[in-house]
Amino acid sequence: MSDIAKLQIGEDSYEFPLVKGTENEVAIDIKSLRGATNGVITIDPGYKNTGSCESAITFLDGEKGILRYRGYAIEELAEKADFLEVAYALIFGDLPTTEQLEKFHTDIKSKSVVDDDIKKILDAFPKTAHPMGILSSLTSALTAFNPTSVNVDSEEEMYNAIVKIMAKFPVLVAWTMRKQKGLPLNYGSKSLGYVENIMKMMFEEPNEDYVMNPIIKDALDKLFILHADHEQNCSTSTVRIVGSSHAGLFASLSAGISALWGPLHGGANQAVLEMLEAIKEDGGDTKKYMAKAKDKSDPFRLMGFGHRVYKNFDPRAKIIKKAADEVLASLGVEDPILEIAKGLEKEALSDPYFVDRKLYPNVDFYSGIIYRAMDIPVEMFTVMFAMGRLPGWIAQWKEMRLNKEPIGRPRQIYTGENVRDFKSIDNR
Ligand code: ACO
Repeated sequence: MSDIAKLQIGEDSYEFPLVKGTENEVAIDIKSLRGATNGVITIDPGYKNTGSCESAITFLDGEKGILRYRGYAIEELAEKADFLEVAYALIFGDLPTTEQLEKFHTDIKSKSVVDDDIKKILDAFPKTAHPMGILSSLTSALTAFNPTSVNVDSEEEMYNAIVKIMAKFPVLVAWTMRKQKGLPLNYGSKSLGYVENIMKMMFEEPNEDYVMNPIIKDALDKLFILHADHEQNCSTSTVRIVGSSHAGLFASLSAGISALWGPLHGGANQAVLEMLEAIKEDGGDTKKYMAKAKDKSDPFRLMGFGHRVYKNFDPRAKIIKKAADEVLASLGVEDPILEIAKGLEKEALSDPYFVDRKLYPNVDFYSGIIYRAMDIPVEMFTVMFAMGRLPGWIAQWKEMRLNKEPIGRPRQIYTGENVRDFKSIDNR
């Protein structure tokens, strides 16, 4: 293949260089397009054909169902690594040695106290507030209690900012749930691993010692790993674009949390469970809901099905389906919701509407079932996703700042009124 793309606009032709990735993906570099063509731009709502950056963090091939972080296959990471190791690899480029991991964890533990005034902010939220709104607000509010702005040219300052948020975010996650459940706000223990500590903070009852279930710990580790990064998705692009204005790390993350909240993105895990509940309440007739999903005059979509990039299968869904079976078996949960989920999956996988459009179960089809078995309230599901996605967002923000990417500022094609005269209010 030549390394030049040719563009013809009317009589004029232009040439643009091709950019190749290490997995041989090809992009046309149109940085000079507007200048060369006297103002012509490209338009691509939803960015289905647009690369926003070059990135060395995550590779995914939606056709082949491949997902790798820093070159490591997701299947292997989910099987052999723990969440903190994966977080380290995403943020710093490779899996840590024992010493590197220990230092990272020790540094995180040393920053894991959240300013007590954060409790006052949390206290002001009504109990009915959505946990994603609370988490986004508290993450932004952390800025007020950590006033140094990060000098990204200083490795030390960058490292300290990363360690701080890795330490404090789990506290916010746990407190968000405890607020909703009416439980006292607590802390974990420095003697515990990163994920065990999150579990203790979330699940410990005030009147009994917390006993960790290793199967739940293992499933949570997997869920966090599977959610840890997914290249330039909606929330990650949000983190990068907010960070590109040189807003701080915590503010950028807070915006990413808001982006993740939506039901077409991270909010899908909540939406899946609500959908399954609704089907159960309505008598469990999966065929009726399959028909609704296919009916173009009905806005209903089968939540947890389809993905912008995976048009074959979502490799994360395979791993999580197995974990869901293990957790339910170990907890002895017989959940009718799981039967409805399995029924829907079976029907969709053999239905021409879903097969032709390459709509397969995505990671969120199963994650909610596991969270429910762990007794995590449905509105907290997307918060759990955010906990897993944290290292990915940090890694992407860091890469964007270190690459000195320019401020994100797309163009548009204006389709509004041409210039018109102002009419005073009594003449309108
Ligand atoms: N149920 C029914 N039909 C669907 C579904 C669905 N879940 N998803 C896509 N379709 C149909 C669309 O109606 C469209 O049909 P058409 O070609 O006849 O018009 C076709 O499939 C293509 O759909 P698009 O919306 O164009 O696909 P896109 O790539 O833009 O959207 C998305 C992907 C948003 C994930 C979509 O599949 C969806 O809404 N799924 C349900 C929500 C969900 O599970 N989101 C989680 C995503 S994973 C994550 O964020 C971690």
